[in-house]
Amino acid sequence: MTVLTTRRLVLREWAVDPADLARIFDIYSRPEVTRWLGAPGLPLTDPAQAADRLAMWRERHAGHGGRYGTWAIEVRDTGVVAGTVLLKPLPGRDEGTLTEDIEVGWHLHPDSWGHGYATEAARALVARELATGTREVYAVVAPGNEASMAVARRLGMTHVGRRTDWYGGEELETFVLTGGVNAPGPR
Ligand SMILES: CC(C)(COP(=O)(O)OP(=O)(O)OC[C@H]1O[C@@H](n2cnc3c(N)ncnc32)[C@H](O)[C@@H]1OP(=O)(O)O)[C@@H](O)C(=O)NCCC(=O)NCCS
Repeated sequence: MTVLTTRRLVLREWAVDPADLARIFDIYSRPEVTRWLGAPGLPLTDPAQAADRLAMWRERHAGHGGRYGTWAIEVRDTGVVAGTVLLKPLPGRDEGTLTEDIEVGWHLHPDSWGHGYATEAARALVARELATGTREVYAVVAPGNEASMAVARRLGMTHVGRRTDWYGGEELETFVLTGGVNAPGPR
């Protein structure tokens, strides 16, 4: 199911099919991707774990009515899935409790780095979210993850330093985009 389209991309649900599951495994088994993600259970070590990961994402977003999700970024020209873009409430200091702060995030396969896909996908998603009246969208980044901080900056997000409000109190570089005059337009 398509969530959004941009000039070069289709943002869609990850599917329970062999191609998508293989791609999930290929992305989330790679240390160069997972070293920056705090999520437990990564890197994946067995292709069978891809279906579990997808089931976890679906369960996480089951009550979100399509507003929040962990979606595949498909390149329109090639059909290649570049990676994941996500929008969701941030878990708080107590990881079990979701806050009202909304996070945008991006995880690409290394074969799809360097094309602007993360920025293009996130820009569209953030614009849609801010258009609903949400005041702010956050990106939180492990210190040292320069490539991810560069995406946040390209989106026009403001760096507000390191904060410990989310993900169990982990110290994370925090970027925020506030709706209104500086909000990105759709592309
Ligand atoms: C973070 C991550 C998504 C960034 O990927 P990326 O490819 O650098 O980011 P984008 O998709 O926005 O692409 C931007 C790059 O494409 C280049 N580019 C090439 N063609 C472009 C085009 N047509 N339009 C825009 N940018 C283009 C840009 O110049 C930029 O490269 P540069 O940084 O060398 O200047 C990637 O490094 C990743 O998946 N890392 C592992 C997971 C991770 O850390 N996720 C974030 C957790 S907080």
